[in-house]
Amino acid sequence: MSYRILITGGAGFVGSTLAIGLKKFNPSWEVVAFDNLRRRGSELNLSRLKTHEINFIHGDIRNSEDFEGIDGINIIIDASADPSVLSGIDSPVTPLVQTNLLGTANCLEFASQQKAAFIFLSTSRIYPIKSLESALFTEAKTRFEWLDNQPMRGISSKGVSEDFPLEGSRSFYGTTKLASELLITEYNELKGLKTIINRCGVLSGPWQMGKVDQGVLVLWLARHYFKGKLSYIGYGGTGKQTRDVLHVDDLLDLIIHQIQNLDSYNNLTLNVGGGRDISFSLQELTGLCQEVTGNKIEIGSVIENRSADVRLYLSDCSKLQKVCNEAWTPKRDVKQLVVDTFEWLKANENQLKNILN
Ligand SMILES: NC(=O)c1ccc[n+]([C@@H]2O[C@H](COP(=O)([O-])OP(=O)(O)OC[C@H]3O[C@@H](n4cnc5c(N)ncnc54)[C@H](O)[C@@H]3O)[C@@H](O)[C@H]2O)c1
Repeated sequence: MSYRILITGGAGFVGSTLAIGLKKFNPSWEVVAFDNLRRRGSELNLSRLKTHEINFIHGDIRNSEDFEGIDGINIIIDASADPSVLSGIDSPVTPLVQTNLLGTANCLEFASQQKAAFIFLSTSRIYPIKSLESALFTEAKTRFEWLDNQPMRGISSKGVSEDFPLEGSRSFYGTTKLASELLITEYNELKGLKTIINRCGVLSGPWQMGKVDQGVLVLWLARHYFKGKLSYIGYGGTGKQTRDVLHVDDLLDLIIHQIQNLDSYNNLTLNVGGGRDISFSLQELTGLCQEVTGNKIEIGSVIENRSADVRLYLSDCSKLQKVCNEAWTPKRDVKQLVVDTFEWLKANENQLKNILN
């Protein structure tokens, strides 16, 4: 089937990787990338998009007029957001709500007009912080681990499933994404839109413009590469906080599978991540960065926790595995992720040195 696909946030890390990957997968698919270039470094993706014959539209999802003139779209992938969990905490909240919630509403309205399927990149940050923090854990040699038996539903040593209770605070970022999920469900039910919600854990890989408040793996690697400074912040300051991570190329493989099977994924909300098998603690990541870059840098220690941080997050993707009948499973481990990202840093050092430090 031939598709015309609109990717909002199409010049961002995930958006540009999906745009180029989808075009490479099926050159008959037309891909349009839409972005306001707000994220520092997104402008570097414009020449990549052009090389792969992806039409770029400079537009802002907050303005519904910016969608005027775009037509014939069958699928929208919404990858435009302010993705920082710290947004709104020490700054006004309305800009975040305008992009992450009003912006989603505009994208949904446009999808509805076009009768296009809508694939949303949500986040594990919709799960409440205090509940995650109250889960029973153990302190292993290099990381924290969740215990198998937990006092609440939807969590085990494998990670968090979609049944995890949703009551409680989750950061302004998480709230705007959860509110978007609710809106998407209404468009599915009341306006007949085909929709898929992917609740992603940490995503990483080449072209992620890692910064202190977002994109930790790239930040960590870039600081090693450019010989900068880092600190283990919070949870005793020893770098045992742990996350699962998904290589963006594994996300691409999943999105291709979803596009090819829209009906079987319709109206589903799915945790998407590397799970326990593809996860890292900061301490372990330091070891990998040293091994891959050959550089050792000073890493400080801050005892106090950072706002809205969590000790541990792992995605339990059992629901997704069941839905796709194991047709998709992540193939790239953390080492490959670090190596691929290192190769990208090396090849683009001059462009990246002012952005990634
Ligand atoms: N990177 C992760 O670890 C991660 C994890 C879970 C979910 N997500 C979600 O995936 C999506 C993509 O994230 P990313 O990591 O690629 O972030 P990113 O910042 O690299 O990309 C987002 C893009 O959206 C653009 N944008 C921001 N505001 C816009 C607006 N008002 N109008 C048009 N474009 C706008 C930015 O310029 C940027 O290019 C986001 O929805 C994010 O919430 C990301």
